[in-house]
Amino acid sequence: MPTACDEAAEERRGRAVIRQVERLRVVYAREFDDRLARHRVCARLAKRSDRQILEIWSVFHRSAGLVGWSPEFRGVLFENDVVILAGGTGRVGGATLRTLHDQGARLAVASRRRESAEQLCAGFPNAIPMVADLADSQSADTLVADTLKQFGRIDAIVNMAGRGKFVPIVDSTTDDLRLNLDGFVITAYNLALAGLRAMLRQDYRDGRRSRGHIVTVTAGSSKDPQPRFGLFGAAKAAVNTLMRGIAREHKGDGIVANAVVLGGVATEAARSYLDAQDFAKAASPDEVARVLAFLASSASDGINGELIDLNARETE
Ligand SMILES: NC(=O)c1ccc[n+]([C@@H]2O[C@H](COP(=O)([O-])OP(=O)(O)OC[C@H]3O[C@@H](n4cnc5c(N)ncnc54)[C@H](OP(=O)(O)O)[C@@H]3O)[C@@H](O)[C@H]2O)c1
Repeated sequence: MPTACDEAAEERRGRAVIRQVERLRVVYAREFDDRLARHRVCARLAKRSDRQILEIWSVFHRSAGLVGWSPEFRGVLFENDVVILAGGTGRVGGATLRTLHDQGARLAVASRRRESAEQLCAGFPNAIPMVADLADSQSADTLVADTLKQFGRIDAIVNMAGRGKFVPIVDSTTDDLRLNLDGFVITAYNLALAGLRAMLRQDYRDGRRSRGHIVTVTAGSSKDPQPRFGLFGAAKAAVNTLMRGIAREHKGDGIVANAVVLGGVATEAARSYLDAQDFAKAASPDEVARVLAFLASSASDGINGELIDLNARETE
């Protein structure tokens, strides 16, 4: 039986180690150049008792040969914030779901097919699959209403959804144009509008300077389309302007709306259409995810109505 004295000594030792950990800095970053990994470790640690922290720290420290980690990563971006994620089932979106979840969000994950939403949510206890076709305004309204029913509020919308068609303008038809507009503009409008109306009805959370964030993914073609990307780019440009319009009209109401203007993304699928050099330069899905998570969080309250280029190392 440990005596009270032993326990006190052990606790003192434990606390001393924890203080030491607090002092140690990010040498670790050099061994693990992956901020997400750091966030994950620290998010987990934040929920453990001092004793558990000590145990995890020793195993982690020994196995990785690390000098320490930075306590600055102990916090996570979301405090149980409720986020609607649309387009997460696509090529880029899996990393975004993982990042939002790891950062402490509770998620409503939308897809047109229940099975896809369920598959994506598997293993993420705070993510709930939902079915929505955002081309249909009623379906977007239902997604928002169901999210409110489930979670009580909506802190952010991250919209990566949409589909388009790439065709030279000279060969295109109004149907091609319509397909791009329906696929990107109408879907973004329906979801943003339903979300905006819900956000405007809810109070600010304690200590927050925003009521809700809307982040929609667009594309570099919205500013400078490559050949064949003109109609796609026109639709994405409209989405850029829609986000700016929402910000302009509702900044004063605590709404934050931005567009993330993506260049090429180094997805598995991109291996078939990007050469090795371009693939190496392209943003990784994790890089995209981190930017989206930041812009969906109240950490980015001060950035409003912006088009944020995420074109990584692209030079043309
Ligand atoms: N991949 C790139 O290199 C790249 C580059 C620049 C910009 N972007 C943009 O980034 C976003 C994600 O790209 P991605 O490559 O991951 O796209 P993707 O693989 O084509 O996936 C499209 C996503 O949109 C969803 N979606 C399509 N129509 C929808 C609708 N009517 N209602 C609800 N959901 C709908 C799909 O969900 P379900 O099929 O499950 O319903 C799927 O999750 C897109 O906006 C894309 O334009 C991508």
